Amino acid sequence: MELNKPDIQKLLQTKTIGRDLQVFPEVRSTNDTAFSLALEGGPEGTVVLADSQTGGRGRLNRSWQSPAGQNLYLSVILRPRISPGLSPRISLVAAVAVADALSAFCPGFVSIKWPNDVLLGGRKACGILSELTLGDNSVDFIILGIGINVNMKKEDFDPEHRERSTSIFEETGRIISRREAAVTVLQRLDYWYGVYLAGGFQEIKGQWLSWCAMIGRRCRIGINGEIIEGLAVGIGDNGALIIELGSGEKVTVLTGDATVL
Ligand code: BTN
Repeated sequence: MELNKPDIQKLLQTKTIGRDLQVFPEVRSTNDTAFSLALEGGPEGTVVLADSQTGGRGRLNRSWQSPAGQNLYLSVILRPRISPGLSPRISLVAAVAVADALSAFCPGFVSIKWPNDVLLGGRKACGILSELTLGDNSVDFIILGIGINVNMKKEDFDPEHRERSTSIFEETGRIISRREAAVTVLQRLDYWYGVYLAGGFQEIKGQWLSWCAMIGRRCRIGINGEIIEGLAVGIGDNGALIIELGSGEKVTVLTGDATVL
């Protein structure tokens, strides 16, 4: 299998992320496997990588297409010593790390769409699902799940996602080594998570804003069946999107589905 532990470990130069690496041909969801490992005490930086998922999950109870032999599905156990309210910052760290990694393969094509989709040429190539477990008033662990469409062909996407999704292959016409892609993502995540732990959240927020194609544009946000429209003017330190309504009032949106108008 192209994705195997010895070959990835040989290439991986990281301090924290991937110091324990587990690679599986098939799991239900790498987030579920990482969650079980974390409950057993799996250390910060443990990575679960799978060739395929039978029950890949996305945000808002959606499924994540996870065929074998084509893409990257990975989850990381993180144990930052932060209060639960700061946990959305970890998704921003991940989005910046993936955007940085993808720009090594598709320079000039990469952008971020709030809350944490990474796009290539304006279509979604990566989704991030971060799941939190609380201890006493603080985060016990976070499972950071990252799915990246690497070599998937347009015709293989489910019809309902086909027009809005893409892969590195679709944007570049090149088949990419998933091993190389995995190593690049884990190394960029190691770097940006290190920046975050060293107190560099404002730098990460600045990076996120510079990748984000929504700021300064009119957006429609769906929040639990309710729709609001306005100008995206920034993000808060908690990762919430700040929208300026037609009235001039500013509202912050913590979760939802965004469309640039
Ligand atoms: C989204 O955009 O809705 C988030 C998608 C997250 C998919 C990844 S694939 C690896 C990890 N395991 C899962 O079941 N989901 C995440």
